[in-house]
Amino acid sequence: MTHRIAIIGAGHVGATAAYALMLRALVREIVLIDANQELAEAEAADLADADALARPARIWAGDYADAASAGIAVLTAGAATHGDESRLSVASRSAAIVEQCVASLMDNGFDGILLVAANPVDLMAQVALRASGLPPERVIGTGTLLDSARLRQTLAERFDVAPSAVEGFVLGEHGDSEVAVFSTIRVGGLPLDTFAAAEPPLDRAAIATEVREAGYRIATGKGYTSFGIATAIVRICEAVLRDERSVLPVSTMPADDSGFGGTYMSLPCLVGAGGIERQVLPELTDEERDALKRSSKALEDAMEGMKR
Ligand code: LAC
Repeated sequence: MTHRIAIIGAGHVGATAAYALMLRALVREIVLIDANQELAEAEAADLADADALARPARIWAGDYADAASAGIAVLTAGAATHGDESRLSVASRSAAIVEQCVASLMDNGFDGILLVAANPVDLMAQVALRASGLPPERVIGTGTLLDSARLRQTLAERFDVAPSAVEGFVLGEHGDSEVAVFSTIRVGGLPLDTFAAAEPPLDRAAIATEVREAGYRIATGKGYTSFGIATAIVRICEAVLRDERSVLPVSTMPADDSGFGGTYMSLPCLVGAGGIERQVLPELTDEERDALKRSSKALEDAMEGMKR
């Protein structure tokens, strides 16, 4: 694995991811690529200023030839959503951008891991898979890692524990049909009902809604979201670069025997140096499985709707 990460798209998410990668000292080289070269150069210059005060990394605005030898290419370029616009509503516009970026990347001989963050992320990861010809284990979407973090954070606040003490997954679409899988939640290693036995009953539907709508609330307030998704990007890069084999909920092509069809969606995956090493499907209640099937169907329909 080379110590270079290419970030395609130097907007809010790309620039913030570069900043977080730099502070975390995960790689030695970060190349920023954007159709707007002036923007990429300005962000790289601003980051280079911070670099002297933080950890040494070389950050520059480059082109696709610079991305060819990157171990990971992070794709943040896509169509932005505004306010209450759903992620799926920008699928066609995003797909055109993703296809173009991936074609340029592959034309230059890229052979690393492609991490897609452009929305709607599950579908854009699949678009990137097709456009790249890379094996599915090396085309990963940030998926519901962010939503799962939001769920853990919400429960951590509720129970006044560290978010690290809360495990649990939001799965399916990173978007409106996502499923907060309460049966996967553990607090201090205990199932939710055991840990919270002395507490008033949790309004699970309200918590799921709060988590699902978090992105909309942030985008309404500041126009976009950046810190959460950028940190999710960094977390996945870290798992790959350190060959962690951590279990993270990310967008992937569901395994044939999973029962979730042939469209990318977020499932818990072992993430290591090879990308997705395997899927780790949790035990689900019937209700959760049905909800995930509906989410998978929503993604499949949206993919069909794009007619690509
Ligand atoms: C969010 C964007 C990344 O949920 O979809 O913040």
